[in-house]
Order: sequence, then C-alpha cells, then structure tokens
Amino acid sequence: MIGPIVVQVPIFAGEGRLRAALARDAILFRGEFFLPLVVCGLHAFSLHWNLAESDPIRLFKKWFDAAVRAELAEPNAMTLATATRDGKPSARMVLLKGFDQRGFVFYTNYKSRKGRELEQNPHAALVLFWQPLARQIRITGRVTKVTAEESDLYFHSRPLGSRFSASISKQSATIASRAVLLGKLKKIEEKYPQGDPPRPIDWGGYRVHPNEIEFWQGGAFRLHDRLRYRRRRDGSWSVDRLSP
Ligand SMILES: Cc1cc2nc3c(=O)[nH]c(=O)nc-3n(C[C@H](O)[C@H](O)[C@H](O)COP(=O)(O)O)c2cc1C
Repeated sequence: MIGPIVVQVPIFAGEGRLRAALARDAILFRGEFFLPLVVCGLHAFSLHWNLAESDPIRLFKKWFDAAVRAELAEPNAMTLATATRDGKPSARMVLLKGFDQRGFVFYTNYKSRKGRELEQNPHAALVLFWQPLARQIRITGRVTKVTAEESDLYFHSRPLGSRFSASISKQSATIASRAVLLGKLKKIEEKYPQGDPPRPIDWGGYRVHPNEIEFWQGGAFRLHDRLRYRRRRDGSWSVDRLSP
C-alpha cells in the first residue's frame, strides 16, 4: 500500500554526504541523499531493506565501496576488540587490509597485546564507522592467522619504511626511549642496504571469520535501521531487523 508523501530532510548534511549521494548504491537510499528528497510512501523504506543482500559480505562490499567513493579518510580503519582468556577486554584501531567470503584481514605483530590476547582467546569484534554516511558495521567471529604466504605477500607490498618499522618494533613492549628505537632503525637500514628486509617471524595477518555482522544506518530522530546477519550451521545467513 502506498502511504502518505513525506519529505526527508537529511540530518547528516555535508560535503561527504554529497559525494556519498553521487556514490549511492541501491540499498538504503534514504540515507544517501544530500538534498531533501520526496519519497512516495513510508513503506518504501522497509522495502529497501527487502532489497538488502542475502549475503552480508556482498552488502559489506557495497558499503565499503561507497565509503571509498565518498573519499572518507581511512575508510578501512576499524576498532578491533580482543579479550584475555578470562574475558578482560581491550580495543584499538587497526586497518582492514582485505575481505572475502572467508573473513576480514588485518596485519599486526603476533606478540603484541592483541596478539597475546588472540593466542589465549581467538575471538574478536570489529567495528567500522563512516560518520558522513551515518553507517556503522559490527562484526564478531573466530580469529585465525593467515598463511605465511599471504603475510609475505602483503609485507613485501608495504613501503620500505613500514617494513623497517615492523622489523624493529616489539609492538606493545616497553622501551627505554625513542632514541633506542631510532638506533635500531639505523642498524637495520645498514643491514639491508638493498631495502629487502625479510618479514619478521612475529609479524603477519589475522582473519576474523564472521559469525555475526550488523549493518547500522543512522536515521532521523534516532530511528535507526539495524540489520543483523547470523551465520547458520550450514554456512548460510539468517537476517533480523533489530530495534534501534
Ligand atoms: C587509524 C589507525 C590504524 C592502525 N592500524 C594498525 C594496524 O593495521 N595494525 C597494527 O598493528 N596497529 C595499528 N594501529 C595501532 C594500534 O591501534 C595499536 O596502537 C597497536 O597495534 C598496539 O596495540 P596492542 O598493544 O593492543 O596490541 C593503528 C592505529 C590507528 C589510530
């Protein structure tokens, strides 16, 4: 049934939103327009949810691509939460470096605090937030290390400076001073004048295999839309709408 005509005045206006509007995808277009938009029928909104993918990875790609097209700063920045064996949490930012049907990949030092926590408790939560698009994505899942080949490939694609930094940093360990760090940097630069340091054995990728992914689209007057996907035993996904 067609409902009354409503005028949507976006509350997240700004340059980013204009770009986002240009980059809009078919889903949730209500959240994509910069200019006031006349929509025929309130029911159109839930209809658009009906267009949502049955596969959350495909939907993730749409949203991620929209964030890239909107030229947001570090669209791949995400919060990674881990916890100790007895459930004491910690969180920090990392960069998403790849995703596919298997999961979401980031790179780090395996002996860092997060690495130690993942060793004890191989479960993590990820959160991405794209403010100009009023979008949040939450992911939880089991974590495994990526293969040595994958880590090598990514390590060697990084700028030389970043490879040297990864090689000298015992991430999350205390150091006496910055001078100590700079001294180590000088040494490794001398050791590898050709600029070909090997990947440190303790540096590599993790993959978060999602069992739950929630898409959050900010709405007017905090009447947000939330779609939660949960993985079934057979690998397929169920979808629920959550109250904002
Ligand atoms: C935007 C942003 C992106 C970051 N990306 C990474 C990353 O991809 N990998 C990483 O190890 N640390 C990254 N860091 C640093 C981490 O937030 C953190 O300081 C570091 O990994 C040590 O965390 P831990 O002691 O909890 O292990 C990033 C920080 C920021 C602010």
